[in-house]
Amino acid sequence: YKRITTKTLIEMKENGEKISMLTAYDYTMAKIVDAAGVDVILVGDSASNVMAGHETTLPITLDQMIYHAASVVRAAERALVVVDLPFGTYQSDPKEALRSAIRIMKESGGHAVKLEGGSEIKESIKRILHAGIPVMGHLGLTPQSIYKFGTYTVRAKEDAEAEKLIEDAKMLEKVGCFSVVLEKIPAKLAKRVAESISIPVIGIGAGNGVDGQVLVVHDMIGMTHEFHPRFLRRYMNLYEDMSNAIGQYVDDVKSQDFPNDNEQY
Ligand code: KIV
Ligand code: NA
Repeated sequence: YKRITTKTLIEMKENGEKISMLTAYDYTMAKIVDAAGVDVILVGDSASNVMAGHETTLPITLDQMIYHAASVVRAAERALVVVDLPFGTYQSDPKEALRSAIRIMKESGGHAVKLEGGSEIKESIKRILHAGIPVMGHLGLTPQSIYKFGTYTVRAKEDAEAEKLIEDAKMLEKVGCFSVVLEKIPAKLAKRVAESISIPVIGIGAGNGVDGQVLVVHDMIGMTHEFHPRFLRRYMNLYEDMSNAIGQYVDDVKSQDFPNDNEQY
């Protein structure tokens, strides 16, 4: 395969080709996601929820993100691998942000980083970009700010927040980000943002008027089953299939059906 680059993604937007993005946090899942043709693999800090069982994305550490990212990088032959900078590793000052981004690039081999926020973290984004590290923005529902929002509901329904989001998206384009994720905002607003900037806008719960889509892979294959926002399409019901398979295994062990004559030496 020819590797997808940040340039490829910008060309895809120019050509009207939609961009597919999914999360992965480990080698085996990333192998499948990459081979299936997903353009961008996000090593999301949603690993904090999905992999570690935390209630929010806040507790995951830079070391833990690097471990996940290195595993994904070893699997991805074609996809661009984007790695989330976790909470607390870029907000205090641009130097710290750059140090965190450099650690991700050097220690995991990832191809780009993603940071949540707009004008508040502009200087950090610029510092990382100046070091030659591609940056993906993330606006709208930014889960690292959950305790500010107090709810995981739709963002930017009011004019003031919508206007700030548009300004932030333009700023991200202007400083040199290669793409921006818009999470859980009205479809109309997301479409307007996608039409007003030339870098690709990847949506999650942001409707169909954007340049690509991202989902958490464990959600879209139905391994998680207690999370059903409107934007989530489940392509499989793996929770049920795995539960049945594992229950069957338990029964087979108990009844000594497993292993049979052909399954031993
Ligand atoms: O961490 C994550 O999975 C994300 C996506 C939902 C955009 O940031
Ligand atoms: Na994230």
